[in-house]
Amino acid sequence: MTTKIILDCDPGHDDALAMMLALTNPEIELLAVTTSAGNQTPEKTLNNAMRLLTLMHHQEIPVAGGNRTPLLKPLETAGNVHGKSGLDGADLPDPDFAVQPLTAIELIAQTLRESTTPVTLVVTGPMTNIALFLRVYPELKTKIAQIVYMGGAMGLGNWTPSVEFNIYVDPEAAKIVMNAGIPLVMAPLNVTHKAQILKSEIAEIGQIDNPVAHAFADLLNFFERYHEAPKWGFKGAPLHDPCTITWLIHPEWFKTERMNVDVETAGELTRGETVCDYYELTGKPKNTEVLLDIDRAAFIQLIKDSLKTFG
Ligand code: RIB
Ligand code: CA
Repeated sequence: MTTKIILDCDPGHDDALAMMLALTNPEIELLAVTTSAGNQTPEKTLNNAMRLLTLMHHQEIPVAGGNRTPLLKPLETAGNVHGKSGLDGADLPDPDFAVQPLTAIELIAQTLRESTTPVTLVVTGPMTNIALFLRVYPELKTKIAQIVYMGGAMGLGNWTPSVEFNIYVDPEAAKIVMNAGIPLVMAPLNVTHKAQILKSEIAEIGQIDNPVAHAFADLLNFFERYHEAPKWGFKGAPLHDPCTITWLIHPEWFKTERMNVDVETAGELTRGETVCDYYELTGKPKNTEVLLDIDRAAFIQLIKDSLKTFG
């Protein structure tokens, strides 16, 4: 059965892989792409989404840009990870199609209204657009089948000791989304740190004989460098965002647990921490299916096979 999705993203190297998987696997129907400020400024993440769709020859996908800043915090970006452009490392084409004359939340609303069945929202950046959407169009909540997001962690952090970047950028937006009563699937650092791609596997991607695979190999070589720092203890680069699409295509490749997940928004040291009630200590509803382990080899093979589909 095909899953209809909207991808709300902040490309971003790993966002690009999520988009590529959504475009190349028939289990997914990508209805629209909306962009958020996160890995880079809103102008850059929007341009990057357009460049990626041009590269992959999918100019038919409607794209709209969203939030300029988080709901309350000033915007902090991740140029140290993704580079000045947000997609450093590859020579990507300029966009050759027009952005929609809509805001991100207008495009989400239009897409949900036009769909005859509920749509899955896949969120791979800060959740600002989704929080704004829920506040402006509460009547469309029933057209959201589920929200599958990369963000947060259980007892880990990659931006502060206990906070993951996407939630760090906009904790208040995440709190709105996590308490909206919509079915949630969370891909936290606990699973994405197991979804690492090795340098040898990136080299194999570089051997796939098409320009899209070559561009993704260049992107991955750049992205991998940040993760070589010994403090991470990684063997490769964690591919965070494509875990969301992979779960939609092959949920059997994951170990999951259902639990309550909420967000700390007041802590001096912990603002943005996702508080995951693994041992059911709060009695709060189990609002989230949390991905905890992945079949890494199958995941990497899916990425390779998907890239081979580009002529
Ligand atoms: O913490 C990892 C997340 O932050 C990923 O979505 C990456 O693209 C960045 O947005
Ligand atoms: Ca992202």
